Amino acid sequence: MKRVDDYRLRFGKKELVPIVTGGMGVDISTAALALEAARLGGVGHISDAMVQTVSDRRFQTHFVKEKSKLYKFNVANSDKSSVLFDLGRLAEATHNHVGRTMAAKRGDGLIFVNCMEKLTMNAPRETLRVRMSAALDAGIDGITLSAGLHLGSFALIADHPRFRDAKLGIIVSSLRALQIFLRKNARLARLPDYVVVEGPLAGGHLGFGIDDWMKHDLRAIVAEIRQYLAAEKLDIPLIPAGGIFTGSDAVSYLEEGAAAVQVATRFTVTHECGLPDKVKQEYFRSSEEDIEVNMISPTGYPMRMLKGSPAIGDGIRPNCEAYGYLLDGAGNCAYITAYNREVAAHPGAKKVSVKDKTCLCTAMRNFDCWTCGHYAYRLKDTSRRLPDGSYEVLSAEHVFRDYQFSTDGKIALPA
Ligand SMILES: Cc1cc2nc3c(=O)[nH]c(=O)nc-3n(C[C@H](O)[C@H](O)[C@H](O)COP(=O)(O)O)c2cc1C
Repeated sequence: MKRVDDYRLRFGKKELVPIVTGGMGVDISTAALALEAARLGGVGHISDAMVQTVSDRRFQTHFVKEKSKLYKFNVANSDKSSVLFDLGRLAEATHNHVGRTMAAKRGDGLIFVNCMEKLTMNAPRETLRVRMSAALDAGIDGITLSAGLHLGSFALIADHPRFRDAKLGIIVSSLRALQIFLRKNARLARLPDYVVVEGPLAGGHLGFGIDDWMKHDLRAIVAEIRQYLAAEKLDIPLIPAGGIFTGSDAVSYLEEGAAAVQVATRFTVTHECGLPDKVKQEYFRSSEEDIEVNMISPTGYPMRMLKGSPAIGDGIRPNCEAYGYLLDGAGNCAYITAYNREVAAHPGAKKVSVKDKTCLCTAMRNFDCWTCGHYAYRLKDTSRRLPDGSYEVLSAEHVFRDYQFSTDGKIALPA
């Protein structure tokens, strides 16, 4: 009976345990979680989503306060085009988060940063260039491009001294997305070092339509991409993600030629995960009916989350002066439009409820959007119930080792 530990993820001469903990935005995949994955010989992701907030929380910096103060004059204005990120400060915050994580790294594994293109930050190209360059400057082992097609992202860092030595990968949900990416980047003569293939059962945003995500199947997409790469004689490690819940699930992909697996939901109930303890208990307690895929993210992508997420139906004033990570480059965000519509429809109301969109920056900042993978309802089977009725929070090491060594579809309970 094979187990994950019988396989290795290879980058040149480097050999890793083929387990990648996925990026979970706004510090759900904390440095502590990524550091554990790296210490245990795998790959851990941090995320650079809302990095100024993350730096403030981790290092008592004041990026958010300073930005809010600078743009205070604009709070009541629905035109947010003037609310821009200071690129120097953005680089500083990224440097703090990435640099101090890398300085703490122990063991043989690697640490990558998840970079979402949909964080357009009111100046998409300039901010993405700064985010990636600063992460490379700060010594990150690799960058995983996500939440977008990233057609121009490699070009933004092509002149960085680490462009060819750092590991660079992309998340796709279809062969077509990968083909477009490869075509657009052909002139740079720099292939991705790995491709994460994310299927419809993943947490976070989905790369499928709201009406058709359930018709797609991760195994079929991975097989299609593998055949294409073989036909093109391209040797790029494939890393499936989304719904890989046990070590045996992982082995089934590794047996079919996957280089590693990317997993996330199992780690949401670990001590190292950034979610507050109360929210971890919500994840543990959830049943299948408590989970939905909806369109409340202003990015336009479907997102899976617990129906009890406080973000759903909230109607706070857009918080772009403090955050503004989803402003599209012309100062627009779908939440601002939805919020203004509700305010206009309810003149004089103290508070409105916005059902179709949420202020995702604020919600993620406050851990009020409880995004999760499809199988979050099985988390209760991965732990023990304590006398007070709550579930025992796990260690990242326990979950990592369970993926690495378990067989027969079994899940090890904490000792
Ligand atoms: C709480 C949570 C937050 C996530 N946030 C992000 C994110 O910010 N960026 C991203 O590319 N993927 C994100 N994902 C997707 C994961 O990185 C991963 O690819 C996927 O969830 C794997 O499937 P699994 O959760 O079923 O193991 C998130 C997943 C979860 C559960």
